[in-house]
Amino acid sequence: MIVYRTKTDLTGHLLSLQNEGKSIGLVPTMGALHQGHMSLVEKAAAENDVVVVTIFVNPTQFNDPSDLDLYPRTLDQDLELLRQLEADLVFVPAVKEMYPDEETQVFDLGGLDKVMEGKHRPGHFNGVAQIVSKLFLMIRPHRAYFGQKDFQQLVVIRRLVEILDMNLTIVSCPIIREKDGLAMSSRNTRLSKEERKLAPFIYETLVHASELLDALSPSQLKEWVILQFKKQGALELEYFEIVEDKGLIPVNKWDEEVNKVACLAVLLGGVRLIDNLIFD
Ligand code: PAJ
Repeated sequence: MIVYRTKTDLTGHLLSLQNEGKSIGLVPTMGALHQGHMSLVEKAAAENDVVVVTIFVNPTQFNDPSDLDLYPRTLDQDLELLRQLEADLVFVPAVKEMYPDEETQVFDLGGLDKVMEGKHRPGHFNGVAQIVSKLFLMIRPHRAYFGQKDFQQLVVIRRLVEILDMNLTIVSCPIIREKDGLAMSSRNTRLSKEERKLAPFIYETLVHASELLDALSPSQLKEWVILQFKKQGALELEYFEIVEDKGLIPVNKWDEEVNKVACLAVLLGGVRLIDNLIFD
């Protein structure tokens, strides 16, 4: 495994691999790696000749400066984990390497960036598009791996590929959960012991909601979920939406033809957690 810190070094190596006709799988991350990230790396390793993992806490996607400051950084541990897997190249750039000048590029994400996460984190998806487009154009992977954990991000990335008009396959990977159902997230380490005990309520409620599809209309189900969180008290529900899985349009009647995803964000103590469940 080789760790690169500059674009020149990384692209130099990639060019020779591309000339040899090797397929390249990219796994972009912000580090503090856990089994969720690892599942992406494993899939990329199974499907490509070479796996590139990037670790970069991208400042332009943080709309809350304290979230950026508090974001866990565990580089030594991350590299150790990647060594145990089949990651070939790891790119760990400094902020100046990715953003030598102030970044001003604005992407037309067709409104996908304005709902749910986008509504509560203005500018977030433009920041994601800025960094991911840089990585795509620099690394030119054949496939790039993203988790369904960040469902809206996945939809935004598919749109980005259209905008960039790149010949690149986006591979979506299932959510990896703790034994008690909590979706793995780098932010989970910021939960206190008490908060951690309460956190599985999020997935439990999503699963419970999925069992009520026959009994309730979409708007009744939404009200039901809001009520469960109100009754529970400690977890503050920021939003709960049932949307169709391509344009993220809210579902207002059940239609078997439409793939539906229930998405939510919750504040637990000072930590913001997101989760979702595909309703089928
Ligand atoms: P990060 O939160 O580090 O996540 C990196 C990738 O791992 C994303 O595709 C995310 O969806 C996936 N992932 C995280 N937790 C997961 C879980 N429990 N199960 C499955 N996959 C999981 O997402 C980002 O970084 C950034 O926005 C990034 C795309 C790197 C751009 O900066």
